[in-house]
Amino acid sequence: MTHKNILITGGAGFIGSHVLRLFVNKYPNTHFVNLDLLTYAGNLENIKDLENKPNYIFEKGDIRDAGFLKKLFEKYRFDGVIHLAAESHVDRSIENPLAFVQTNVIGTVNLLNAFKDLWKEDFNGKLFYHISTDEVYGSLGKTGLFTEETPYDPHSPYSASKAASDHFVRSYHDTYGLPTVISNCSNNYGPNQFPEKLIPLFINNIKHNKPLPVYGDGQYTRDWLYVIDHARAIDEVFNKGKTGETYNIGGFNEYTNIDLIHLLCDLMDEKLGRLKGQSRKLITFVKDRPGHDKRYAIDATKINKELGWQPAVNFEEGLSKTIDWYLANDKWLSNVTSGAYQKYYEQMYHKR
Ligand code: NAD
Ligand code: DAU
Repeated sequence: MTHKNILITGGAGFIGSHVLRLFVNKYPNTHFVNLDLLTYAGNLENIKDLENKPNYIFEKGDIRDAGFLKKLFEKYRFDGVIHLAAESHVDRSIENPLAFVQTNVIGTVNLLNAFKDLWKEDFNGKLFYHISTDEVYGSLGKTGLFTEETPYDPHSPYSASKAASDHFVRSYHDTYGLPTVISNCSNNYGPNQFPEKLIPLFINNIKHNKPLPVYGDGQYTRDWLYVIDHARAIDEVFNKGKTGETYNIGGFNEYTNIDLIHLLCDLMDEKLGRLKGQSRKLITFVKDRPGHDKRYAIDATKINKELGWQPAVNFEEGLSKTIDWYLANDKWLSNVTSGAYQKYYEQMYHKR
């Protein structure tokens, strides 16, 4: 690691917390600042173990606030940025697209400006790493994979906002010579994911014997990657990736939603000591998500060949570990599902 002072945005969120843990522990001679607004998705409990590390500081703040960012960059003089902070849930983007423009597009441009203005044109040894999603590529038919050359074709306000932010990052590379790198990853799962996303939401519902709301016919396909494998990939890209390049990250692990939900129900039956088949009875088909992308699948050949990365955790093992984490962390789960979550759940699911 040649960088001395790294800003990680969104480090109290799901993926950010795993990235932060990996980097803070692996690189004791590098200083890390975690900038997070602590929205509903940010939770300092996710990184409690890092609180007293000498190479780590938490700063609460908003990437939508350009003035605040300018001061923060002048204070710490970051030579590296790993940008994860975002509004990340597709269903919320359908309810409130503007919030996604403000955080994901304007927030990213604010960060690019703060980095550019700090270093003027002296970009030697600096890097701005933008974390993005495979959803920018749109939807696949029955065959084919997203490569780094697949044209952008976003369908949800979330993916449109991520696509726009990717374009801004590339434009700063091409226009101002900013050293940037982007990675686009498939669906992550694992500990600490907010229970609005499919896997943690369904684990929580199964635990409480609540209906499992499957959108449409459940025949939608996603490529699932264990979050710590994503964090390892981010480490490779940050340290070995080529400036100006894009890397696709994925698990070569496609599941239709309904197959995944069956597997999840069966594993939960085993772990909760329920009769086999009991949790599957909770499956309820509900109104589809508008603009629902049929299939995502990543071709992760480039990162494998050029940087030597590949996933280490297979899906059944990862899913089992994830369930164990949620069952063992009842307090974490009940804290994040009290109060505002109940309102969210009613608003999002009563109309389906
Ligand atoms: P998350 O929703 O769990 O966490 C987002 C974090 O950003 C939270 O800690 C939140 O407090 C913070 N944040 C939000 N708005 C902010 C603001 N205005 N200023 C400062 N901080 C703010 O998200 P995640 O699932 O961990 O995703 C992290 C990144 O990875 C996102 O950019 C997302 O687009 C991308 N990504 C996610 C997945 C996935 O499957 N979850 C897959 C590929 C890429
Ligand atoms: O592909 C990467 C993306 O994966 C990330 O960029 C996003 O931040 C992340 O949220 C995720 O997006 P998805 O929309 O694929 O994830 P989600 O967990 O919301 O949904 C996964 C699939 O499950 C999708 O086909 C919709 C379906 N679904 C989801 C929920 C929440 C249901 O059937 N019922 C549900 O209640």
